[in-house]
Amino acid sequence: MNLKGKDFLSLKDYTKEEIKYLIELGIKLKADQKKGELEQILKGKTLAMIFQKSSTRTRVSFEVAMYQLGGLGLFLSTQDLQIGRGEPIADTARVLASYTDGILIRTYGQEEVEELAKYSKVPVINGLTDLYHPTQALADLMTIYEHKGTLAGLKLAYIGDGNNMVHSLMIGGAKMGMEVRVATPRGYEPKEEIINLSTELAHKHNGKIILTNDVYEAAENADILYTDVWASMGQEEEIEERKKHFQGFQINAKMLELAHKEAIVMHCLPAHRGEEITHEVMEGPQSVIFEEAENRLHAHRAILAAII
Ligand code: CP
Ligand code: NVA
Repeated sequence: MNLKGKDFLSLKDYTKEEIKYLIELGIKLKADQKKGELEQILKGKTLAMIFQKSSTRTRVSFEVAMYQLGGLGLFLSTQDLQIGRGEPIADTARVLASYTDGILIRTYGQEEVEELAKYSKVPVINGLTDLYHPTQALADLMTIYEHKGTLAGLKLAYIGDGNNMVHSLMIGGAKMGMEVRVATPRGYEPKEEIINLSTELAHKHNGKIILTNDVYEAAENADILYTDVWASMGQEEEIEERKKHFQGFQINAKMLELAHKEAIVMHCLPAHRGEEITHEVMEGPQSVIFEEAENRLHAHRAILAAII
């Protein structure tokens, strides 16, 4: 499998086999690290990491992943870069690509990431946009695979906002042959283009996409319960309004009773306890949330090792 030089902008650009390869590489590199046998395969390589939004996990795990593989991750806030003063992305892309071996960007518009990739001669990684969060979805698929030993045929119930997170899970889940059930309040459904794309992918790969406004319909007998914040970065002004519409869109003990008895609970973090998930469930025995967060590091090492 040769993915050298390939951008990582959305899971839609990766085949089922390529996703499987990255998951297995992530698991292998995790085991290597635990045995103290991680090889420095990116010695002397650098990754520019542009952040226009806050981050704990994505920033630290990519920076640490580069270091552990023998390279360097450079954290670049748009507040300090000339982008913040209006320098075009196309110019920034060409300049950064002439110094580094890869560029990661977290920003608002998916089109900004695509513009960066168009002008960069080194691979670009999408560290989250309003549309997608593919690095998180890859780590999530890896986490599910580790727990369940398979992906095809599993039922993943996503409860909450039709946002970047669920978009990436719908695409990745459909490609891996999963049944992805999405329960959102009315008016907060995933984007239509993503529903169409993931439904098409599901048909092709024996998966299923189900949309509902009923949380219990989604949760029934589910193998995975997944949620994310009610208001994403950039939606701060809508928080109070959203709180009204999202009441009940919460993973709690009642929902766990409806799910499969061995269901795992996931959340990309950061979480708002008492809103989309209860403290009890988050800290309970079925939660794999902190393992999921750890797997960002392992999955990111796989992405970096494969594309740089
Ligand atoms: N889940 C996730 O991407 O976390 P950060 O915003 O902390 O990077
Ligand atoms: N949907 C959330 C995910 C954060 C990792 C957001 O975009 O803020």
